[in-house]
Amino acid sequence: MVSRLRIGIIGCGEVTQIIHLPTLRQLNELFEVVAICDVSQKALDGVGDEWGIGARFIDFAELLALDSVDAVLIANPNAYHAAMTIAALRAGKHVLVEKPMCLNLAENDAIIVAAEETGKTVQVGTMRRYAPAFLEACQLVTELDEIRLAKAHDIIGRNSYVIEPTSRVVRGDDIPESVSEAMRQLEAEQIFAAIGDVPHALMTAYRMMLGLSTHDTSAMREMLGMPKRVLHASQRAKGRFLTATFDYGDFVCLFSTGGDNIPRYDTYLEVYGANCVIRVDYDTPYVRNMPITLSVLESSDGVYTSRSQRHPAWGDAFTEEWRAFHHNVINGKPSKTSPQDFRQDLVLFRDMIQMMGGARTIHDRCGS
Ligand SMILES: NC(=O)c1ccc[n+]([C@@H]2O[C@H](COP(=O)([O-])OP(=O)(O)OC[C@H]3O[C@@H](n4cnc5c(N)ncnc54)[C@H](O)[C@@H]3O)[C@@H](O)[C@H]2O)c1
Repeated sequence: MVSRLRIGIIGCGEVTQIIHLPTLRQLNELFEVVAICDVSQKALDGVGDEWGIGARFIDFAELLALDSVDAVLIANPNAYHAAMTIAALRAGKHVLVEKPMCLNLAENDAIIVAAEETGKTVQVGTMRRYAPAFLEACQLVTELDEIRLAKAHDIIGRNSYVIEPTSRVVRGDDIPESVSEAMRQLEAEQIFAAIGDVPHALMTAYRMMLGLSTHDTSAMREMLGMPKRVLHASQRAKGRFLTATFDYGDFVCLFSTGGDNIPRYDTYLEVYGANCVIRVDYDTPYVRNMPITLSVLESSDGVYTSRSQRHPAWGDAFTEEWRAFHHNVINGKPSKTSPQDFRQDLVLFRDMIQMMGGARTIHDRCGS
């Protein structure tokens, strides 16, 4: 294989235009974008013209048939991720698939089988886990004598608050309504297969977990391991605000997430030892190269106390994610954000939804 990977991109929307294409251009010595696919002719031509990419396809199968493509980025709507990941693997391509990799455990297991049978790399795009500040924090956590508490917190305003004033995005607003409707129907079926027939608020909560919480829970798992169980989980604001308590035995991790109308990122992972608090703060991914910071508060004797804040490197989490993908593909290494790893998030989300349904049952039992 050539060391400069030739990339085909499926899905030319916001994240591809604002983040992935600039990142791939920055890493020009490692990647070349050779083909793109989108069901919107407008998005396809807008992106193709802007980035000088001639090979443009409405049908992803035509892109996958190209010998000139080594690996694909899958960045179209979530409902298609599983089928396209499997199709790409079967076509002999390595895959970087945006989160969520898929929507239910059956799809996840099918991807694991396809990856094993083809021997190709699948990397899930939970990029926060590639940030140098996060990796340094993970190392510091292993050096703690004990952990007493952890927190995973993610409250964000609408992405459009950041995107509109800072980026120009070609919108694929020429897609026939029947195509969008078919996508919504497919997604509903996939979610039904995951969590059954649940009230609308729990559907919203599950979508929230797939779309946002997987960043938090997967980083939490890398830092602390898989929790023993979900002690509590609840949803409010019609499924748009979620809380949970993950039980690690000696300590718990408090999880909270939601979306509101304030243009900011209030997103962190924090671990409390006896003498030291370690925290990683993330900012919006839509402005590239915003520093992800590591903060350490510590006291050795209960008197002398220090507080430091650092970002160990310039550079975007997405850049590090792509570098890792290149390394994994070229060296035949499994990705740490693998299909097996993503499966653990789906198990947590299923357990959280069950517990949210349980709360409703108690409510029902009270007869109110
Ligand atoms: N890692 C992150 O932080 C991050 C950030 C944003 C988005 N994402 C993920 O990236 C994906 C795309 O998000 P987005 O915000 O760019 O969405 P978007 O709606 O802006 O773009 C999706 C694009 O896919 C196209 N599309 C729809 N159906 C298609 C099909 N069948 N084949 C090919 N193209 C098709 C649409 O026309 C559109 O151009 C989502 O899965 C999202 O969860 C990840």
